[in-house]
Amino acid sequence: MRNKKKLVVFSGAGISAESGLKTFRDSDGLWEEYDVMEVATPQAWAKNYQLVLEFYNKRRKQIIHAEPNAAHHAIVRLEKYFDVTVITQNIDDLHQRAGSKNILHLHGNIRFARSTNPKDNKLYPIKGEELNPGDLCPSGFQLRPHVVWFGEAVPNMPQAEKIVKNADILIIAGTSLTVYPAAGLIFAAPDNCNKYIIDPNDVKIAELKKLTHIREKASIGLPKLADELLLKIVS
Ligand code: OAD
Repeated sequence: MRNKKKLVVFSGAGISAESGLKTFRDSDGLWEEYDVMEVATPQAWAKNYQLVLEFYNKRRKQIIHAEPNAAHHAIVRLEKYFDVTVITQNIDDLHQRAGSKNILHLHGNIRFARSTNPKDNKLYPIKGEELNPGDLCPSGFQLRPHVVWFGEAVPNMPQAEKIVKNADILIIAGTSLTVYPAAGLIFAAPDNCNKYIIDPNDVKIAELKKLTHIREKASIGLPKLADELLLKIVS
């Protein structure tokens, strides 16, 4: 077979909404319920790390009990005929559990912990649902969730930009494109790359060439788009 086309999926909270996980900025979103500054910043950790751990323990519990939906599964189907990479802003592991092979997390993965020792970059899998005060790394430092907080660097951005620069097809699914630097990733895509946004709502986006907005929920829009793309390849 010819070289497979490079297809990149850039996902956000909306792709997991139909798995029962709340988005951040919709009317019933997480940032309506919580003050982001109190739970998702280095300052919050310094002020009250128990509260931060509780917030992410709740998220982790919900994620562990959620299942991938038709959108996650449709992406896996594409792998047979496309060279697929998923770049996700989500901290859930639903792409992994659906079976996607190449996944780059921009904002971390809640199933892992990191040490608060700045010299220790290792990731520690979290065995149960909780990370608690007193859970320490081998060198005796408190473990924190492996998530990128507001105000922290996004170490996987350069790698993500490289991947998007080479994309033939870019599918942007379930993200409001409001959080930078992640949201800026779409501008790395070449002009001749076919771009699709799957989102039932308006998404504020600057002019991008070859862009189609599919106004559907991800569980409907992604399987439909996958069928169309696969049909083009096999016909
Ligand atoms: P947002 O909550 O900002 O946006 C969710 C998007 O999903 C919106 O555009 C909705 O219209 C759309 N949406 C809702 N239901 C959907 C469905 N069933 N199918 C498809 N789309 C749907 O979430 P993100 O853009 O992912 O960062 O947020 C970006 C970052 O902000 C997150 O990674 C997180 C958050 O604060 C950190 O925690 C660092």
